[in-house]
Amino acid sequence: MKNSANQNIKPLTTRVNERGNLEISGCDLTELAEKFSTPLYVVDENTLRTICREYKEAFAPYPNTRLLFASKSLCTMATSRILAQEGFGFDVVSDGEMFTVHKAGVDMKTVLFNGSNKGIDELNLALELGVGRISVDNFLELSLLNELAQKSGKTADILLRITPGIECHTHEYIQTGHLDSKFGFDLTQIDSAIELIQDEYKKLNLKGLHAHIGSQIFETKVYKDEVDILFAQMVRINEKFGLNLDELNLGGGLGVKYTNVDHPPSTFEIADIIINALEENIKKYGIKPVIYLEPGRSIVCTAGVTLYTIGSSKQVPHGTKYIAIDGGMADNPRPSMYQAEYFAQIANKPEKPADETVTVAGRYCESGDILIKNITLPTPEEGDILCVYNTGAYNYSMSSNYNRVTKPAMVLINEGCADIIVERETLEDLTRNDKLPQRLGEK
Ligand code: LLP
Repeated sequence: MKNSANQNIKPLTTRVNERGNLEISGCDLTELAEKFSTPLYVVDENTLRTICREYKEAFAPYPNTRLLFASKSLCTMATSRILAQEGFGFDVVSDGEMFTVHKAGVDMKTVLFNGSNKGIDELNLALELGVGRISVDNFLELSLLNELAQKSGKTADILLRITPGIECHTHEYIQTGHLDSKFGFDLTQIDSAIELIQDEYKKLNLKGLHAHIGSQIFETKVYKDEVDILFAQMVRINEKFGLNLDELNLGGGLGVKYTNVDHPPSTFEIADIIINALEENIKKYGIKPVIYLEPGRSIVCTAGVTLYTIGSSKQVPHGTKYIAIDGGMADNPRPSMYQAEYFAQIANKPEKPADETVTVAGRYCESGDILIKNITLPTPEEGDILCVYNTGAYNYSMSSNYNRVTKPAMVLINEGCADIIVERETLEDLTRNDKLPQRLGEK
């Protein structure tokens, strides 16, 4: 089976250049750090487009596949434009994500609106912008959406989000398809939901079912189980209610290689499992559904790195050597939230002998702000540029202004060109929405 880019730690175009520095897509990382300052999110366009094309190639044998990108993993106008150019639609979960892809010029018919407690304004925006599908999560949302569609004289094409009862081995916080989950209709609630749609909610047009079993998944069999469960439910519903549902959204979840201990399957293996399971069910039941996939991490993670400048260091007597960087848990909360592990190299001396084991500490005022524990690097010195790999997914999108620190810039690189796609926040940006009520006086 062919390999795919999610099985690499580094962007595909990474190399060491003649100056002995790390280079990605023809851009020397030390020059990027100097020009744009650090911390800096860097996205390699070439790796991103290659991954999109791998997905398309992998699912080409099943032409009824619609690929949506899970915007929650990375949502900027420029990356959305690239994904749309590569033929992807979008899974959005908020008005902010919806608005961003809309501003990027995305055809809103290719957008699916997901989420577990969508607001009235958000549902109205989805109707106004004409998103292609809304995945309805619960009973309240069914009635709300029907009412809003009625008011605006529209109908909404919907999927029902269900919890298929599949447990996958990933971090507890990023498992979603198991039975005791906050997401979607329990299998025992589906029929009541459909009765309501048939009898009362005339503005809702049910097209199919949706599930998402978890994230950073390395197992392949869970996808077969998911196809089997969703397919059987679809057939059962069609028979019981005289419907013609023919859309199944399998969610996202394919894992990536953050460090050498990770061995994610390739996109081609996942596609093979899913397509075989579909073919078996098609043979058995005679329906050939449209399937949606909504990967996030496996599309953008490997294409992104973050550059930091190394500052102070501290050798605890007979203990750990800490090196401090100018970023940390606010630009990458994943190590402190999920004990996530990352690999890094020093961009200005990647090939010097790795002779010192250090712990990379963030700059934020929390003991838990440790980015990487015990990594062996060529003796890190003040001013060195640290390149942390695999930060394209869920880093920028989960970033915060903790400690009132400005968020980093993001640059898109391609064959020696580097363009800012998200400006670095300024101190003025930080106080832009603050108000000083008059009654507090002048000073
Ligand atoms: N579809 C649905 C309905 C989802 O909830 C998710 C992710 C995806 C698709 C995309 O899954 P992916 O292909 O990226 O695994 N913040 C966590 C990950 C949370 C994932 C939430 N849902 C992390 O940093 O690991």
